[in-house]
Amino acid sequence: MLNFEEDFTPVAKSVDVPAFLRAESAPAEADVSEAPAAPESQRVRASDKRIINGATDVNQLVPFKYKWAWQKYLDACANHWMPQEVNMSRDIAQWKDPAALTEDERRLVKRNLGFFVTADSLAANNIVLGTYRHITAPECRQYLLRQAFEEAIHTHAYQYIVESLGLDEGEIFNAYHEVASIRDKDDFLIPFIDTLTNPEFRTGTPEADQALLKSLIVFACIMEGMFFYVGFVQILALGRQNKMTGAAEQYQYILRDESMHCNFGIDLINTIKLENPHLWTSEFKKELSGLFHKGVELEYRYAEDTMPRGVLGLNSAQFKEYLRFIANRRCQQIGLDEMFPGVTNPFPWMAEMIDLKKEKNFFETRVTEYQTGGALSWD
Ligand SMILES: [Fe+2]
Ligand SMILES: [Fe+2]
Repeated sequence: MLNFEEDFTPVAKSVDVPAFLRAESAPAEADVSEAPAAPESQRVRASDKRIINGATDVNQLVPFKYKWAWQKYLDACANHWMPQEVNMSRDIAQWKDPAALTEDERRLVKRNLGFFVTADSLAANNIVLGTYRHITAPECRQYLLRQAFEEAIHTHAYQYIVESLGLDEGEIFNAYHEVASIRDKDDFLIPFIDTLTNPEFRTGTPEADQALLKSLIVFACIMEGMFFYVGFVQILALGRQNKMTGAAEQYQYILRDESMHCNFGIDLINTIKLENPHLWTSEFKKELSGLFHKGVELEYRYAEDTMPRGVLGLNSAQFKEYLRFIANRRCQQIGLDEMFPGVTNPFPWMAEMIDLKKEKNFFETRVTEYQTGGALSWD
């Protein structure tokens, strides 16, 4: 069993690590025949690690400092799942049966997938091409690698649903260009993603560090923590009425992953705040509140567009309340004042969905314990 408190004694490096893999430039080369390649004084101490602008060797996962990030990596791996494990035959039969779903329900499914089929690619790009480069804590990088793979699994899941139902792929995959309520959400997000993926962008000044923090907050709290939730509620509400249960099962796994992404992002944000308190100015907080307001507005418009008449017992007023409830929660989680005092959660059943246990899914269609290595053979 791994002991987090154990001191780790690294062996002397026998291979030079390229400069681009280090958080700071390499030490001068030493004569290996007479002395260790690097003095022991250069070994990483946990206390020297930083989430951003760290100067320690980013290749040394241990000694651990950010144990919460490592634990989330382990938890995420334990939750592994794949889209093809979910049986879609019932969904396919319902989609083909004109009496099984109303037109409004079909619109909801298509608009819903229209957002998600590209949203998780945006998320993956944000992690791989942006966030990962700017985070100097190896424990957090380890989680981000797992998160990036989960975003690939989510994109796979949405594609798998589109393909299973035989939907018009051109229509669904282009919705983020062609449907205003989806395009507006992506247009809001893209400048923040661009900040992090810009090859010229460097942290290290208060302005740049605030720009990074702002992008992390938009990504974790507004995109993953708010823009996904109307969509999750809608498909899970279908599943609760015994409709599209395969798709709903996939969304449950995605919701579980996304709630962990959001929580990881919040821990990351709060740790950056702790390590860099000068970034959290009143002006900065005001700017963030404005972004949360905009996020609620955009997601509410998307809710109205996906269900103009109210469907499945859901209506726009409930979504307005729900989005305000979520915005309050996200603000509290990162230390901002509540934006909408007094609102309550109109969908308390969503909390159960987020707490999905691994052993059995809500619809009891199959046991989802994941096994690895079962197919390996040395013959
Ligand atoms: Fe995702
Ligand atoms: Fe995510």
